[in-house]
Amino acid sequence: WVFVLSQFSGSPAPRAAFPATRLRRVRATDWSRRLVRETTLSVDDLIWPLFVMDGSGQQPVGSLPGVNRLGESEIVAAAKRAVDLGIPAIALFPATDPKLKSEDAAEAYNSDNLVCRVTRQIKDAVGDSLGVILDVALDPYSSHGQDGLVQDGQVINDETVDVLCKQAIVQASAGCDVIAPSDMMDGRIGAIRSALDGAGHSGVQIMSYAAKYASAFYGPFRDAVGSAANLGAADKKTYQQSPSQSDEAIAEVALDLAEGADSVMVKPGMPYLDIVARVKQTFGVPTFAYQVSGEYAMLRGAADAGWLSGDAVILESLLSFKRAGADGVLTYFAADAAELLHRS
Ligand code: PBG
Repeated sequence: WVFVLSQFSGSPAPRAAFPATRLRRVRATDWSRRLVRETTLSVDDLIWPLFVMDGSGQQPVGSLPGVNRLGESEIVAAAKRAVDLGIPAIALFPATDPKLKSEDAAEAYNSDNLVCRVTRQIKDAVGDSLGVILDVALDPYSSHGQDGLVQDGQVINDETVDVLCKQAIVQASAGCDVIAPSDMMDGRIGAIRSALDGAGHSGVQIMSYAAKYASAFYGPFRDAVGSAANLGAADKKTYQQSPSQSDEAIAEVALDLAEGADSVMVKPGMPYLDIVARVKQTFGVPTFAYQVSGEYAMLRGAADAGWLSGDAVILESLLSFKRAGADGVLTYFAADAAELLHRS
């Protein structure tokens, strides 16, 4: 660039020679654009989040057009579809029966709860051809919708971490490949790592939701798992990060790595690509980003209204994560994107 700019100093070049550098030359043809491509998106970059419910059939989620809560046999079918599409991993989230939710979220560590049951079924069906990622946090199970235990109106840290360890152990015992703590309690990665190791699960990975923000983009997810009504007007600002913070994200990632995280995640995605880039450049570890429910709803809604070209914005938005440095993206578009990539 110094070279390019230096051409503009001094006396103007003769008209015929100007400009000596024409960046449009490499953009002129498809073969040339392909040849100089810096960033690519492939099916290997996709993680597909899925919502599971008791029983059979499927239920649409109003705020996530095109996304359904899937019954137990439908979720196994979706897992097989992921394998057929070449998607490396799925992430499961339970829509827990409200009768099973409680103040202490005890259903989270019931070894026969919904996610544990379907994880066993999925692993029986697909084995190691698909990674299964399970969230660790109490919000799908708590009657107050918070990710941790609540005492005197406060989410209490250390007692919550003890429960998260129990949750991680039942999930690992059910056969999940990756534990993904999304709760943002302090010290949970180290505690979960030693709990897993102590229970004979030293091979189970931890993908930490390391830089997770208190975001308004999670609304449709909370509808999907049925925690929105439980949470009511409360928020998660005492544990999830403020959207104003960048250095703090680096501190969170550093701690989670020191405590034993195998990979880290930034969430939400598109409004936080600066954080994705900074995390990847700073640590050089496997870094994932979550294109969350509100981001999906924006793009899907605008595409369905005919305001945006759906296929093009799906692929462009996912490529932008790769350009920022992400190694992979959790996205509700995973199956659509995989089909588009196979066709292109
Ligand atoms: C639960 C959890 C949330 C998401 C993933 N895990 C919601 C929240 O923190 O309130 C959000 C995902 C999405 O919006 O797609 N701890």
